[in-house]
Amino acid sequence: MSSVYYSKWASGLRKSDISKILKASKEPGVLSLAPGVPYPDAYPTDKVAEIIESIVKNEPEIIFPYGNPQGTLRCRESIVYRMKKRGVNVTPDRIVTTSGSQNATDMLLRMIMNPGDTMIIEAPTFLGVLDSIKNSGYNLVEVPIDNEGIRTDVLRDTLDRLKKDCIHPKIIYLMSNYHNPAGIMISSERRKELPRIAQEFDCMILEDDAYAELRYDDVDQTAVKAYDTDDSVIYLGSFSKIVSPGLRVGWAIVPEELVQTWNTCRPMFDVGSPAINQEIIAELHRNDWLDSYIENLKKGYSIRREAMMSALDEFMPDGVSWTRAHGGFYIWVTTPDGIDLDSLFRTAVKKRVTYFTGNFFYLDHQHHNHFRLCFSRPDEDTITEAVKRIAEAVKEEMVK
Ligand SMILES: Cc1ncc(COP(=O)(O)O)c(C=O)c1O
Repeated sequence: MSSVYYSKWASGLRKSDISKILKASKEPGVLSLAPGVPYPDAYPTDKVAEIIESIVKNEPEIIFPYGNPQGTLRCRESIVYRMKKRGVNVTPDRIVTTSGSQNATDMLLRMIMNPGDTMIIEAPTFLGVLDSIKNSGYNLVEVPIDNEGIRTDVLRDTLDRLKKDCIHPKIIYLMSNYHNPAGIMISSERRKELPRIAQEFDCMILEDDAYAELRYDDVDQTAVKAYDTDDSVIYLGSFSKIVSPGLRVGWAIVPEELVQTWNTCRPMFDVGSPAINQEIIAELHRNDWLDSYIENLKKGYSIRREAMMSALDEFMPDGVSWTRAHGGFYIWVTTPDGIDLDSLFRTAVKKRVTYFTGNFFYLDHQHHNHFRLCFSRPDEDTITEAVKRIAEAVKEEMVK
């Protein structure tokens, strides 16, 4: 066989480290708080089986031919409905459906960014996007987050500094609700301020809101896009967390001129997203079925969140702190300075428990004193036991 000469993009990926964690997570007896995936009962199996049978019989002309690269109209109409709940009024012609939100990000960055262009990302940020862009030749500039989301003061200073150096960032990529990995959300003030900053510095915000609607407390989750008056915000949504990640249906709300470019570019990439999956999503909206389903999902996730919060309170030693997730899947734990996070992970694995260390979520992949716990998959007893084991590992590391 001839050698495979890999691209810089593929050969630079550090997937092996992540796959080590995922592999360790699957060993018998290991409790895992690592992957952000739904709990087993969270899949709408019976309903989807019923829908598939009906659409295969009744809508062959919609699901079998090559489809519209912008997505099926009924799916985009369902997205209009979902966006209203997030405070955004939009028409179907401004929506493009995608194979999940990751695909939306990839497509949009292909259309907007060139190697050498500057993009602002949060620190920490979503691993899936970080890994996919870090070898793309972009000039990536990190802006820290705090408990109220991206630090808008630092963002302004960064944009000012770049402007003085004649550097014009094209994109600010951020998460508005239930941040992955940090579990936090952007404050109401910053949500209003962000589109103004984008307008002032002539750049676009890519708002990733993959966990929207999985809200467990009474908090404001209005999208940043709702405050956008001049199309500075591209909104990214997903059905992965409210229906199923395997169906691969997500969307973007894009400026009018981008719709045209999208319809030119998407066919050259993968032609379009599978129509059958989009039609399943549309059918799930019939008689508000999906709304009641999401209410049940929220109960399932919220009891898991509570189990994790109680276990952290009960078992973690003094000096360790964590965020309270008002929604989504994640809690971000901060350890005292001086703890070796690699050593902590090895100790945790010996105790048969896994999670994601914080360094994966930063550009430099260096030691940061954080780790991410995910409560979405295991049941409450497993969460409690897993947190107890991690706390024991932390205590051991603290006295080393
Ligand atoms: C913040 C964030 N954005 C996007 C995604 C990707 O979602 P999708 O399955 O729609 O591609 C994820 C998945 O975990 C995520 O956590």
